[in-house]
Amino acid sequence: MARELRDMVVVITGASAGIGMELARQLSAAGAKLALAARREDRLRDLNRELGGVHLAVRCDVANPADCDNLINQTIAKFGRLDTLVCNAGYGTYKRVDETDAAEVRKMLDVDVVGTTECIRLAIPHMQRQDLSSGWRGQIMIVASAASRRGTPFIGIYSGAKAAQLAIAEALRVELSDVRIAVTSIHPTPTKTEFRQVAERLGKYRLPPSSGFIKTQTAQEVVAAMVRAIRRPRPEVWPWPAAGWLLSVGTLCPRWMDRLMYRYYDAVLRHNGLGERQ
Ligand SMILES: NC(=O)c1ccc[n+]([C@@H]2O[C@H](COP(=O)([O-])OP(=O)(O)OC[C@H]3O[C@@H](n4cnc5c(N)ncnc54)[C@H](OP(=O)(O)O)[C@@H]3O)[C@@H](O)[C@H]2O)c1
Repeated sequence: MARELRDMVVVITGASAGIGMELARQLSAAGAKLALAARREDRLRDLNRELGGVHLAVRCDVANPADCDNLINQTIAKFGRLDTLVCNAGYGTYKRVDETDAAEVRKMLDVDVVGTTECIRLAIPHMQRQDLSSGWRGQIMIVASAASRRGTPFIGIYSGAKAAQLAIAEALRVELSDVRIAVTSIHPTPTKTEFRQVAERLGKYRLPPSSGFIKTQTAQEVVAAMVRAIRRPRPEVWPWPAAGWLLSVGTLCPRWMDRLMYRYYDAVLRHNGLGERQ
């Protein structure tokens, strides 16, 4: 039986832009009650106003455990339950691995990995106490990436963070199966959001407009697949399914996958006026 979106309580981290903002729009239109979280509170307030002012907007830096605690507590205080937690907040930087120092690595892991696990840790006790609804007490959705399945040049550290999110989702899904909390990981290919601007600003390289053999998607396409998986929880969602197949085959054929990646690496070097590999 599909879960009912009307009156479903959903926490969305990273709701001030991109995929999180589009998810808020689509879920709000379906009648869900939302807790919108991010650092840019002004954007959250504007979004809440656009959506009728019925939601909760909470300033939250997911790298700060006290902010995560406050987010979950405020959600329970306002709505009395938490049906779906969407761990979406995250960022990457366009840099080589050997150009990324320890502070930058720690900062990214703090947001993309620890921010995810902390929100999950705080949400689970509330979900566990809830009655079953359409077969589930709750759902944890982690917005990972297609890069979870294959480290990609110029986003090597980010790929590592996203691989960690996938591994955590896989383990957690089994750990929470007996309490009927669903765990779903989402694996978008490059998506038209503010991600690229942030990654270029914090990084050293600019990426070509197209990522070659991998399709670029819109936030609307990614979110439509997420909403389907909120209604009917499933383990993994690949909004462009071909990426899931290609990268899974790639894990069995690493040399072949490397060849595709060399082509991509050279294309990025050329785009940045840096010639090609020797
Ligand atoms: N776009 C892509 O190509 C792509 C592909 C695969 C996966 N993803 C993943 O999709 C998710 C959403 O990214 P997006 O594409 O929508 O990028 P985006 O447009 O840049 O949005 C990122 C969101 O994360 C929030 N955020 C960043 N750091 C945060 C922090 N420390 N605490 C709380 N919120 C934080 C930002 O809000 P504030 O700055 O206001 O805090 C913003 O709302 C990310 O996890 C990303 O890794 C994106």
